Amino acid sequence: MKLSKKALSIPASVTLEITAKVKQLKSEGKSIIGFTAGEPDFNTPDYIIDSAKEALDIGFTKYTPVAGMPELKEVICKKFKDDNNLIYDPSQIIVSDGAKASLFHAIYALVDDGDEVIIPAPFWFTYEEQVKICGGKPIIIQTKEENGYKLTPSELENAITDRTVTILLNSPSNPTGAIYSKEELEALAKVVEKHNLTVISDEIYEKLIYDGNKHYSIAQVSDYMKENTIVINGVSKTYSMTGWRVGYLAAPKAIASIISRVQGHTTSNACSISQYASVTAMSKGAEIVESMRQEFDKRRKLMSKLCDDLGLTYINPQGAFYMFINIKEFIGKSVDGKVINGSLDFASILTDHGVAVIPGLPFHADEFIRLSYAVSEADIVGGFERIAKFISLIK
Ligand SMILES: Cc1ncc(COP(=O)(O)O)c(C=O)c1O
Repeated sequence: MKLSKKALSIPASVTLEITAKVKQLKSEGKSIIGFTAGEPDFNTPDYIIDSAKEALDIGFTKYTPVAGMPELKEVICKKFKDDNNLIYDPSQIIVSDGAKASLFHAIYALVDDGDEVIIPAPFWFTYEEQVKICGGKPIIIQTKEENGYKLTPSELENAITDRTVTILLNSPSNPTGAIYSKEELEALAKVVEKHNLTVISDEIYEKLIYDGNKHYSIAQVSDYMKENTIVINGVSKTYSMTGWRVGYLAAPKAIASIISRVQGHTTSNACSISQYASVTAMSKGAEIVESMRQEFDKRRKLMSKLCDDLGLTYINPQGAFYMFINIKEFIGKSVDGKVINGSLDFASILTDHGVAVIPGLPFHADEFIRLSYAVSEADIVGGFERIAKFISLIK
């Protein structure tokens, strides 16, 4: 059977692979504490589940308009107005099968073969693969510790060529938890505007923000940025609805209509039942979202303390639910008779000691591992006991 070169060039998602391995080890009766999942561990709140049941009961089970049911687009417009002071017309909103699909359609709409897309690293690895699938060339900028692992205007300026079309920003960031301030975004926007570029701004973790920080969208910076930014968001992380597959984007009208056309021939509308339930989720959920955020914050503080106790350094996360821990000091050392050459080895050997984490390599940060704190406090404490033992064996 012939397989396409395009398809063969795409590596499997490391997160999904490791999450599956953990599930399998658990099903074999092995005790594994997993810090790998990129999703909240809470059930989807009951009021959302009830709404989905209602959708089924009333027969809301047919195609909706490709770009989303009108009621959901209205709620999304309201969210942008209330949360981000961004006024969009419903025709500028496209609802997709999860934010991953929104991103893909956005990149597909902008990128021709050989076009360059700037991606600051560390970054969520799907960006790079989607750019490649769309024929684009990912231009990866290694951000620096002293800048909080955020892109600076001069780094951006230096990476721009006459093939650059867009910049992929993610705030709050997966994996670092970094968030860009208003001032930082304003400074980046000046460079974007000077070169007449666009931005794809992934804001899926917008509601998970700590220490009194505020989320700000680069689309808010100026009229130019509003007209040249595709904002990506969704219900997965905010409402613990990862399996429901509802993401959305807001874009300038011309881009939105092209994306809608593309989506009409790829996935068509997102699941009608999930869309119906998303209207309810987004209309009513503020208190529940806040209580989940507070719970994540407690776990974030617990994990930070446990890292401090072990002398592990990490990027202090300001948002999302990941702790990016530095393992540089262990690289080149050995454990169980095996040399730790990088994050893949570290993560793989640690799994044998009952703890699953995501290696930093696919995020373009091989000196790090990513631990999700969207897990119970008991698992965090138990997992760190195992990590402490594991580290003590490294020589
Ligand atoms: C930064 C980022 N963007 C987008 C997504 C995709 O979200 P969805 O489940 O809505 O496709 C994820 C999921 O892990 C993510 O981490």
